[in-house]
Amino acid sequence: MYLPFQPTVHGLACDGVSVRAIADAAGTPVYIYSARGIAESYRATDEAFATYPHAIHYALKANSTLAIARLLKSLGSRADANSGGEVAVALRAGFASREIVFTGVGKTRHELEYAIAQDVGTIYAESPGELDRIAAIAAALGRVARVAVRVNPDIDANTHKNISTGLKTNKFGVPLDDARTIYRDRRGCTSLQFVGVHVHIGSQITTAEPLRRAAAVLTDLALALRDDGVELEHMDLGGGLGIAYEGRPMITAAEYAHAVLPELRRIGLPVVLEPGRAIVGHAGALVSRIVDIKRYADGPQFAVLDAGMTELMRPALYGSFHRILPVMPREGLESPWDLVGPICESSDVFARDRAMPPLQVDDLVAVLDTGAYGAVMASNYNRRMLAAEVMVADGGWSIIRRRQTIDDVLVLET
Ligand SMILES: Cc1ncc(COP(=O)(O)O)c(C=O)c1O
Repeated sequence: MYLPFQPTVHGLACDGVSVRAIADAAGTPVYIYSARGIAESYRATDEAFATYPHAIHYALKANSTLAIARLLKSLGSRADANSGGEVAVALRAGFASREIVFTGVGKTRHELEYAIAQDVGTIYAESPGELDRIAAIAAALGRVARVAVRVNPDIDANTHKNISTGLKTNKFGVPLDDARTIYRDRRGCTSLQFVGVHVHIGSQITTAEPLRRAAAVLTDLALALRDDGVELEHMDLGGGLGIAYEGRPMITAAEYAHAVLPELRRIGLPVVLEPGRAIVGHAGALVSRIVDIKRYADGPQFAVLDAGMTELMRPALYGSFHRILPVMPREGLESPWDLVGPICESSDVFARDRAMPPLQVDDLVAVLDTGAYGAVMASNYNRRMLAAEVMVADGGWSIIRRRQTIDDVLVLET
């Protein structure tokens, strides 16, 4: 496992490039990504499945900045888009329409019309009603929509409740038991072509067994559909592989492949994978400057950062853990710090009681493992501007998204 952000005698570096130099030039807060980190994770997944026909559709929802989408495309990836906007980004990044799968609960009529008109590779229906709307729209457009049904297998992914998607209490997919009938009832529909089956049981999954069970039930369904005369092109296992936010050993892509491949081999259909976090998570860090320090008598000492839940929502949303490193660590004893953002919300906290070396105003800190579900979840709350994003590649760096300005925001308003 390649980890791009490493302390050096000259301070924290990303692929050997000084993080301080980037932050001084690009300003803060800034997301820094490692092209090498993304490429290494992509290749690890690709190699893990090398013995079996497979296609990796990088899940754009994890990070859809154009330069990152283009990098994945150049590595051989295809795309998983979760909205009309992500379909548009994928096309803009150079993915062919047939290389895009369109997933997601609650697609609007407009999004479906757009995806069908673009002839995307597969649209994953989340309900019988959506399937019928797809059929009607495709018929009206004189098209045949390539579709699959997302099933909800009621499998506990043992992950945070807010990112679990495969339980029957979650809003995603159709009940597994209904799937066969849904395909069977629509076999005569001339504006639909059934090309696959789909499952995605959640994100940040840290053990192989739920993923193996999902592969097993999807294979059983595909075998049953074959008995019914439905010839599929692929089975889509979704994404979900976790990453080691706390530095503890984590399921690898090879272990994932080892768990699911025996199930897939029972049918031999090509598999589609939709990894997001496992590709970009470790490859990004959010670098922020300390703007204030305050200490309460008998209470916590706070380092107030210039980044908060508007730049990185995961801690406020899921109570998630991120390692935080000083970019230029100072000599001295470690003590507990609350690292907080500047937003008017008490949940705007990156870490509580975190052991850190001495910190001072204007010091830089790096919030690690924020390449996935970081910049994409940012907001303009408190009228804060979206952070700049930087890519480190080939020993240098460049801005891949400039910092938003107040004029960018207000141009939309009367
Ligand atoms: C349908 C689908 N596919 C793929 C993903 C990517 O998941 P992850 O980033 O955990 O690999 C998600 C995210 O939840 C998803 O909803």
